[in-house]
Amino acid sequence: MTRIVLLFVLFSLNYHSRADLIADTCKKSEFPDLCNSTLRSDPRSAKADAKGLALIMLEVALTKASTTFNQVKKLLSKTTEPVLKECLSLCAHLYESIIQEIPKAIQNVGSNNNEAIHQGDLAITDADTCEGIFNEEPNKRKSPFTANNIAVQHLVGIAEDILASLS
Ligand SMILES: *[C@@H]1O[C@H](CO)[C@@H](O)[C@H](O)[C@H]1NC(C)=O
Repeated sequence: MTRIVLLFVLFSLNYHSRADLIADTCKKSEFPDLCNSTLRSDPRSAKADAKGLALIMLEVALTKASTTFNQVKKLLSKTTEPVLKECLSLCAHLYESIIQEIPKAIQNVGSNNNEAIHQGDLAITDADTCEGIFNEEPNKRKSPFTANNIAVQHLVGIAEDILASLS
């Protein structure tokens, strides 16, 4: 009887900690709501450990970055205005780097988390640079990719928070 109770307690504890890993992980991240909604909308999260959650987050970031890269190239192909063309061309180069940096981060998760974080930082800086070039005087204009640039930075940032907690 005692054994059965103990087993049950152990089982519930284990179940409880699994069920709450997403909540616990996201509570500690810089962007708890984005962390929660991103992980809850991926069916793989339910069975993932913390390292797995970091990988899912990086994969979502990579998808966002790839979509953005395509959108930038599409807009660039339709743009004739020289200043905008210049900005978009720079963003295209930056996103070309980002879609290489995030896979490098992914490759290093688990084996070299510091390197994964470093590659993540490069990607964040590139997305930030893409946003910043639209704000440069005297040709300051509204960035067409603000939401994307922010999403990429935040998704990678959350992945880095998870990775930092693993070390
Ligand atoms: C996390 O997301 C789920 C589903 O989207 C939602 O039901 C839940 O309230 C969220 N939790 C927090 C702590 O925001």
